[in-house]
Amino acid sequence: MVEFAYLNPLLAAVEGEAQDAGPLAAVIQLIYLGAVVCFILGLKRLSHPLTARSGNILAAVGMFVAIVATLLHREIVSYPLIVIGIVVGSGIGAVFARTVKMTAMPQMVALLNGFGGGASALVAGAAFLRYVNSGEAPTLDVAITMQLSVLIGTVTFSGSLIAFGKLQELLTGRAVTYPLQKPLNAILFAGVLALVVWLVVAPSGWVVFAVLVGAGLLLGVFSVIPIGGADMPVVISLLNSYSGLAAALTGFVINNHGLVISGALVGASGLFLTNIMCKAMNRSLGNVLFGAFGAAPALAPTTQAAAARGVRSYSVEDAAMIFASANSVIIVPGYGMAVAQAQHVVKELTDKLAAHGIDVKFAIHPVAGRMPGHMNVLLAEADVPYEQLLDLEGVNPLFPQTDVALVIGANDVVNPAARHDKASPIYGMPILDVDKARTVMICKRSLNPGFAGIDNELFYAEGTIMLFGDGKATITRLVAALDDFF
Ligand code: TAP
Repeated sequence: MVEFAYLNPLLAAVEGEAQDAGPLAAVIQLIYLGAVVCFILGLKRLSHPLTARSGNILAAVGMFVAIVATLLHREIVSYPLIVIGIVVGSGIGAVFARTVKMTAMPQMVALLNGFGGGASALVAGAAFLRYVNSGEAPTLDVAITMQLSVLIGTVTFSGSLIAFGKLQELLTGRAVTYPLQKPLNAILFAGVLALVVWLVVAPSGWVVFAVLVGAGLLLGVFSVIPIGGADMPVVISLLNSYSGLAAALTGFVINNHGLVISGALVGASGLFLTNIMCKAMNRSLGNVLFGAFGAAPALAPTTQAAAARGVRSYSVEDAAMIFASANSVIIVPGYGMAVAQAQHVVKELTDKLAAHGIDVKFAIHPVAGRMPGHMNVLLAEADVPYEQLLDLEGVNPLFPQTDVALVIGANDVVNPAARHDKASPIYGMPILDVDKARTVMICKRSLNPGFAGIDNELFYAEGTIMLFGDGKATITRLVAALDDFF
């Protein structure tokens, strides 16, 4: 048998066997309870933009408290080493938090999920090796949770790295498909389940365990490569849920209640978020995971075709004239506003219009952009008051009485095909009814499609005016052009 004796001090410490009986154990459990309460209240506060910031801080405090409790509980390594770990880890986290751009947040979350899954797999794997080493057999519940944690943790780790690679454009963002892909993935899935059962029944085979780790990593890779880059936010949310599940399972393995509850919270909230995103796109999770959405490259109509269909392109000066005679404006931001980083100049436009008595509101589609709350975060960054943002249900009845709907870098979320074209991939997705406004002004660089890769009939509609150009540059020029009228 291979010796893993060097792991024993670590594992004796990680594993929560009742070495802490007595008052300290009770205090530690109470601290964990306090941490978990912070997580729950933090999550609750995250559900509203006005309380989200304090919710985030509360959850971070909860995590810090949980780490302190863990350190009191188990002398894992020397305290100086732990302090160094905390300083280095927090330092890297702080640098990332300050430097990573909002548009790159999904890949950052993907990485963090991957680390979470990987950490759970490592702890559960270390526990397994300890059992192998000591010759002691785990109880059935520990044996099952240990192997499932390793499996889900490894799938989460490699799947998240692929998601990161796609979003960071290190790998192709397209859905990678090949013949017999689904049957092969199904065989791999059945194979890893068989390995899990094997290790539960005969928990002494470290070679089989190594195969399980490798197969789990492969499963993560092969499950995520057939999914298009634009579907990655949904996948990341699902992987986030997996990482929570892996953590909760590891909590059972090492008998850590704080980990069980916080893992369950992550698992459940990740699943809810996944469901919300799928519903807002009117797609099933099965379609996201197995539909290979985004395998074909998206095509823009040619200039001739566009001209033949009567696209009307205005200059910013002409557009300014329309604004000057408007009483009400609804701004619809989309992914392009994020790409152009136009939120600050959009706020300037809003202020200028409002100063001249024009009523300005924002219409926020739940899946505008590329991650949940994308538009809310950008607009909050530019100090747009939260009260000005209306959701889909609140704003749609207002479009028929609105003079100008200004669409900035949004495409799919305003495509009327979703309402009537049964052949459209976005059919059934609730959209913002901008086409019901008196004038629709669309600011984007070309007639290129958006995420769904489909043409938008709104570009050719009678009441639509195209303002071609980069979102930030065009709105900046529009703000300047308004000076001639106000
Ligand atoms: P999209 O439909 O993706 O359209 C974005 C448009 O922005 C593009 O057509 C592009 O046109 C334009 N654009 C890009 N860069 C620009 C720039 N610098 N200045 C101005 N315009 C620019 O965006 P959307 O309407 O926000 O819809 C989001 C889509 O993503 C939906 O289909 C949704 O289902 C999907 N999705 C969302 C999420 C979440 S949670 N938000 C998750 C997964 C998928 P040009 O190239 O012509 O400029």
